[in-house]
Amino acid sequence: MFLVKLGGSVITDKGRLRTFKDEACRRLASEMQGRDGSLIVVHGAGSYGHVLAKEHRLDEGFSDESQLHPVAIVQRDVRELNTRVLEALIDSGVRGVSIPPAASATFDGSAVKVFDPSLFQKMIGLGLVPVTFGDVVPDESLRFSICSGDLMMAELARHFKPRLVVFCADVDGVFTGDPKTDHGAELIHELGRETLDNLRRTESLNADVTGSIYGKLDRMLDIASHCEKCIILNGDVPGRLKKALEGESVPSTAVLPG
Ligand code: IPE
Repeated sequence: MFLVKLGGSVITDKGRLRTFKDEACRRLASEMQGRDGSLIVVHGAGSYGHVLAKEHRLDEGFSDESQLHPVAIVQRDVRELNTRVLEALIDSGVRGVSIPPAASATFDGSAVKVFDPSLFQKMIGLGLVPVTFGDVVPDESLRFSICSGDLMMAELARHFKPRLVVFCADVDGVFTGDPKTDHGAELIHELGRETLDNLRRTESLNADVTGSIYGKLDRMLDIASHCEKCIILNGDVPGRLKKALEGESVPSTAVLPG
């Protein structure tokens, strides 16, 4: 079983509201060909989710009625993104089928309360490729909250114990500094708890309601303990995802269990 996350920064322009990177998404879809029945895809929301979610503080849950219109808009927007991802997959011959997070899980306090993998199991059993995504979801204590794609990755990893988990980012992996501004930043080949704790904390430039890269890395350490191998690679470089799925080694950061 392979579990792949297409990061929001790879399939959207995170700085510009609702900008889909069609070419990149179609190429990544074609790199996943031939794995129907043994692949689950998760995608982030990118600028279809984070921009409005941050503006209206949807990640903090319900505070007043004025948030409900943006809740509906973000729900619609991430479904539009999901449809575009499905189109890219299906056009590449990958039999993607949509499973919104709330169809398989309940949420409380921005965490998963109960996860039911049966829908994923049925789709996989049929030889299809379940596709889930970051979304606004009903939440028992907050009334609504944001479920990140990474939260779904963690649940899926725990239940399906994949051979390989791949996070497609817009950089080669985790660096010692921000590779986009610091040219001396070096790629970290293996990242464990200690390395993460020692990493210099840099601020993300774009709106992100599901935590900085450090929050995401915390979750990845947990995911790494439920699979044989967990890597972060550059989804913007053609061929890297394909090679990784074929078991070849590519520039990446391997996340160690912790
Ligand atoms: C965010 O999901 C969900 C919403 C803001 C609605 P992710 O946290 O998985 O998205 P990316 O990968 O950072 O864009």
